[in-house]
Amino acid sequence: MSTILIIDDDDQLRKSFEKLLAEEGYNVITASSGEAGLKMVSYDPPDLVILDMRLPGMNGFDTFKAIHQIEPRLPVIIMTAYGTTETAIDATKMGAFDYILKPFEVPDMLLVIKEGIRAGRFMRSPVDMDVSPDHALRDAIVGKSKPMQDVYKAIGRVAATDATILIRGESGTGKELVARAIYQHSNRADMPFLVINCVAIPENLLESELFGYEKGAFTGASHRRVGKIEQANRGTILLDEIGDMHFNIQAKILRLLQEKSIERLGGRETIPVDVRIIAATNRDLEEALANGRFREDLYYRLKVVTITLPPLRDRIEDIPILADYFLVLFARDGGSKNPGITKEANAILSSYSWPGNIRELANTLQKALIFNRGAPISSEDVINTLSEKPAEDKRPGEKDDRTLREWARQNLTILSGEHLFDTCMDRFAAILIVEALNMTAGNRSQAAKLLGLSRPTLHAKIDKYHLKLKTSVTEE
Ligand SMILES: Nc1ncnc2c1ncn2[C@@H]1O[C@H](COP(=O)(O)OP(=O)(O)OP(=O)(O)O)[C@@H](O)[C@H]1O
Ligand SMILES: [Mg+2]
Repeated sequence: MSTILIIDDDDQLRKSFEKLLAEEGYNVITASSGEAGLKMVSYDPPDLVILDMRLPGMNGFDTFKAIHQIEPRLPVIIMTAYGTTETAIDATKMGAFDYILKPFEVPDMLLVIKEGIRAGRFMRSPVDMDVSPDHALRDAIVGKSKPMQDVYKAIGRVAATDATILIRGESGTGKELVARAIYQHSNRADMPFLVINCVAIPENLLESELFGYEKGAFTGASHRRVGKIEQANRGTILLDEIGDMHFNIQAKILRLLQEKSIERLGGRETIPVDVRIIAATNRDLEEALANGRFREDLYYRLKVVTITLPPLRDRIEDIPILADYFLVLFARDGGSKNPGITKEANAILSSYSWPGNIRELANTLQKALIFNRGAPISSEDVINTLSEKPAEDKRPGEKDDRTLREWARQNLTILSGEHLFDTCMDRFAAILIVEALNMTAGNRSQAAKLLGLSRPTLHAKIDKYHLKLKTSVTEE
């Protein structure tokens, strides 16, 4: 449970906050002065601070500076009324997470709090590397395969430099996790780390989110706003999904990398900034380059130090280790013991193609835990879970058809004649059935389920094709 410290001299406001945030599942502690709040932070830092600007004694701004000195990675949300906005903006320039104007709407406040807690967790909750499942924390990079060993080495090599890093890999391969590990092992580990998701934010907003703006820069810009890059000064920024970033913003990022300075929107001042950029993408950047959607100069600047995360299907020896890790984790969440997993179930996990990579594996095991009723996860639990998914998630792509087309062409040239079509269909059906039986360790009921056939139909086909099966066929 996350703990939020509220520093405000208004008794009424503290009480209503306490009630509201407790209902949202937060643990709330309060202080009525800057001095008292500061003591609480130095004694045992909470996960987030909500700080009023106008306080008796030590004012909000000085309180912020003191908190930031003790723990620069602690997200502080400043509450400000008209008249103290300028100091709140100054505080964000110095690294406050955000500020919110009084009177505020509750949902807005809750959203900022949620984002702040997440950002704080990213900075302070350590990402373990190469740990044994039993000791695993929630955020660990698990895997012993050669490609993962290479990833660990790369992280070790680049973390402590100030180099810009590009992390590539399919969706769900752990790019965000690796970015956090790099940050945590860097010389900037005790300074802020901010994540900007370039797809989640619309283009015009992304620009002002990153670079900030001056009052009057556009309609509705009633105050200066400090951008995330400036806010993360001396820290690190993850530009997530950079492959989807708009062309115009790419130019500004390139300038930031080359000149180490930015300009706020509508501003003329050049502001020097010292941020380390980590970029991540699951896009084919070379294709984006060819289509003119990605700038060549930025591409070459980014790719100097690249870490590529292997898809899960290319490191299947990690699957049982990952499965074990997730089972320990999810069982612990549910207050139970790791139920374990059968060899057959692991075999099915290892033969699946995992288009959604580790995220998909984690989700599959979480769901399988619903079916297993305390017993070790069986192949049936896994099959039930995998077959629940919408078909489009799993459909193999064009590329996967290549071998099949090759096979078709061979048959067409070698065989040809009256029965070609039926012969090919039968051979293909036989292959499908044999593979289904292999995946289910010869269990006909489970194979029928995988194939979407009734058991008698499967039996009939096995007889028809005179299938000699590698594995011993078992009934139920
Ligand atoms: N090697 C790993 N060991 C354990 N958990 C992992 C590993 N890699 C990824 N995960 C977990 O899988 C999930 C997806 O990882 P992450 O968000 O880092 O992927 P991503 O590459 O950024 O995906 P996307 O491109 O979809 O954003 C997270 O819950 C993460 O903790
Ligand atoms: Mg990601």
